[in-house]
Amino acid sequence: MNFIVVSSVLVAICSVLVAILMRKIKNWIPQDLDKFFQSVDRLSSKKLFKVKFLYKDMYFVNDPNLIHKVLTSDECLEKPQMIYKFFGLSDGFLCCKFNQWKRDRKNFSCSFNNVMVNAFTSIFCEIADRMVEKIKEVGCGQKDIIYFTERCTISMILASSFNIFPNDVENNEERINEVATAVKIQSTLLCERFRKFHLFFDALFRHTNHYRKITNLKNYLLEILFKEVDRKNRRIEANNEKVPNFVGNIFFNKLLFHKNEMTLNQFKDSITTVIGAGFETTGTASAHCILFLAMHPEIQEKAYQEILSIYPSNDDEITLESLTKLEYIERVMKESLRLGPTVHSIAREAMRDFELIPNKIAKKGSIFCINIYGLHRRKDLWGDDAELFNPDRFLPENFEDKQKYFLPFSVGRRNCIGYRYAYTSFKIMMIKLLRNFKFTTNLKLNEIKFNRQIALKLTGEHLVMIEQRN
Ligand code: HEM
Repeated sequence: MNFIVVSSVLVAICSVLVAILMRKIKNWIPQDLDKFFQSVDRLSSKKLFKVKFLYKDMYFVNDPNLIHKVLTSDECLEKPQMIYKFFGLSDGFLCCKFNQWKRDRKNFSCSFNNVMVNAFTSIFCEIADRMVEKIKEVGCGQKDIIYFTERCTISMILASSFNIFPNDVENNEERINEVATAVKIQSTLLCERFRKFHLFFDALFRHTNHYRKITNLKNYLLEILFKEVDRKNRRIEANNEKVPNFVGNIFFNKLLFHKNEMTLNQFKDSITTVIGAGFETTGTASAHCILFLAMHPEIQEKAYQEILSIYPSNDDEITLESLTKLEYIERVMKESLRLGPTVHSIAREAMRDFELIPNKIAKKGSIFCINIYGLHRRKDLWGDDAELFNPDRFLPENFEDKQKYFLPFSVGRRNCIGYRYAYTSFKIMMIKLLRNFKFTTNLKLNEIKFNRQIALKLTGEHLVMIEQRN
């Protein structure tokens, strides 16, 4: 009898203690990702500050020289799994551990190099033309431009990285919508994981509905892709079609070539990584840029005039070489990526003890957090007008001493593998959109709000008024 009473009391006390502890831990964990990043911004005047997160030293690095030291150091090529696990792609080469990353980066870099981007240029143009036709078809007027830029980006990735062209796919528009919706729901679910404390711990997370939903979405996406790739291959075989040389280097074909070196999860996560990393970033960046231009008609006009001077006719061929002549558009895109860097924060982990500043050693396993969004808007680095949209700050004479403050694609060996690809597809979308339409908006730069989720989103829609040019 006594034993039963004592055990009941003990169980009750333990339950209360666990509840108090859970509540305490819950308070330590930020409930809203964006609010968390806002508090990081407030500390950005400090060159460097350290906090203890669970058992790890976490350094918030704000000094541009130290940021470069971390990102270009061979000691900091590891990604902290504690943070990157929230991307839900732990086995893909954006988030994976160093040894896998080293192998994968070597295997796949040829799929994103200049030769490949050159080969993709006409594909990008064809798909951007389809976007223009789609806008004309649904009619001008007030639209959320991201709807079109995101779908255009997915089509570009499917064509260039998976060799699946719009004409290869039955009900192409429907398929693209399915892919876009699956990726977007997945990214919302991943953000929710951050907000829900009980989803933090992998051991618990794997037994939740949330995990099952994310896994099902991933499998659904892969199923669509495999079906389309298979359909295309069967058609090529049946018709004995000739395949261009560069197709062997297309990302998906390289992946199949190296499949035996990989686990099934690494194979699957590598596919989802390229779709996720390429789609949400470039699609959102192009929508931000159009919105900024709609807010600044004189800058838009100057960009339009530059396009006319290089491509007087809508049918003029766009090549990598002619793209380099669009210097003003390039400054517009850079300024847009400065104010709206779609990858707003990144992190690294020390693989060995690392001397961050003289006589200050960061221990092996320390995490370094880099707030790209904050860095791009600092008045002490960019001047009092840092919050304004001014492409001329990227004129060579103005930008020369500011290169270290601009990191939309990161730097060092673990920078964006797709940055040439992204710049080219982004520029082509801008040419096609600005050549065919004029954009205006009632939104004001100082009134819009960005929301830092997995990618940098706008709170609300990219609402622009679209008017067709002659
Ligand atoms: C405007 C568009 C883009 C931006 C702003 C962007 C930015 C970035 C940044 C900052 C990183 C480093 C991430 C980190 O350190 O955690 C990164 C990595 C990566 N990006 Fe991009 N990216 C863009 C487009 C693309 C495209 C189009 C692709 C592929 C088609 C791509 C594929 C990747 C991959 C695979 C990585 C991981 C590289 C590695 O760890 O070796 N990105 N990107």
